[in-house]
Amino acid sequence: MIKKNNVLITGGAGFIGSSLANVLLPQNKVTVIDNLSMGDFNNLQESANLTKILGDVTDKKLLTKVFEENDFDYIFHLAAIASVADSVARPYETHQVNFDSTMMILEILRQNKKSLKRFVFSSSAAVYGDEPTLPKTEESTIRPLTPYAIDKFASEKMAMIYYNLYDIPASATRFFNVYGPNQNPNSPYSGFISILVNRLRENTELTIFGDGEQSRDFVYIEDVIQALLLIATSNQSLGEVYNVGTGIKNTINDLTKFAQKFTDKELSIKYDAARQGDIKDSLSDVSKLESIGYKPNYDLANGMKKYLNYEFK
Ligand SMILES: NC(=O)c1ccc[n+]([C@@H]2O[C@H](COP(=O)([O-])OP(=O)(O)OC[C@H]3O[C@@H](n4cnc5c(N)ncnc54)[C@H](O)[C@@H]3O)[C@@H](O)[C@H]2O)c1
Repeated sequence: MIKKNNVLITGGAGFIGSSLANVLLPQNKVTVIDNLSMGDFNNLQESANLTKILGDVTDKKLLTKVFEENDFDYIFHLAAIASVADSVARPYETHQVNFDSTMMILEILRQNKKSLKRFVFSSSAAVYGDEPTLPKTEESTIRPLTPYAIDKFASEKMAMIYYNLYDIPASATRFFNVYGPNQNPNSPYSGFISILVNRLRENTELTIFGDGEQSRDFVYIEDVIQALLLIATSNQSLGEVYNVGTGIKNTINDLTKFAQKFTDKELSIKYDAARQGDIKDSLSDVSKLESIGYKPNYDLANGMKKYLNYEFK
């Protein structure tokens, strides 16, 4: 566990970032930088330990000042345009956020890493692309198909190189499909589950892209926080990349049926053409993460029950 430390979370008003901040806030000083393009400061608990900075991670002047004024023990770089489709529509703009910001932070740290214990970069299972072998281990073929996936892979590699060449203590996570409270359902690129829950609540039509038989490794936010804290604090994880999932796959159709049954609601569902860059099946092998103590506590049924109880309480 991280206690009595100074922590920076970029993208800390977003889904994963705010969930992590809320876990760390009682016992640490937490600084959050977010431009609120997708996040919301209201996701964060009120706390005297919290510093909120409304700003952009591509703003070098701002970042330099923040690093001059603070001595961070842990940095979780979660800010990103977390949308594959957006990166296809705006490749250069998303590259500036999804890659250049990582390089900029690493370079600031190379000049002066102060007492940094760990820089954790949040990459994505998207780096594996459409190579069909499952489950994905960290050694599986990398076949990024979109600007988003390329930027994620380049960022994690750059972080590892800054560890090998300049001794910047860095690790990276490849998140599979994360779900839970505070995911912004208003974005067309939001996780499928948050959109599904929103449609159930508002009783509006759900669009499924493709035939719904695509499968995903859905991982509940609490397991993701467990993974982030282990990766940030383990000595074994220095210079290493980890899959973060459950090792269990579920189809979109199964999930939709289950959510309707559990909430006792019926949805109107429209099937539309598959989206560009969407992958048919995705499944993690989490044995590397398990080797540093990870044990996922939620399969989809348990995680969905907790999430749906939260949403429909
Ligand atoms: N949620 C998932 O299933 C998933 C899967 C794979 C990877 N990831 C990665 O995990 C990280 C967190 O994802 P999330 O689901 O919490 O997404 P999110 O969109 O909720 O959070 C990202 C946050 O970054 C902020 N942001 C975007 N551009 C910014 C900029 N230029 N400057 C400052 N802040 C900016 C957004 O406002 C948002 O609050 C991202 O890097 C994402 O690519 C997430």
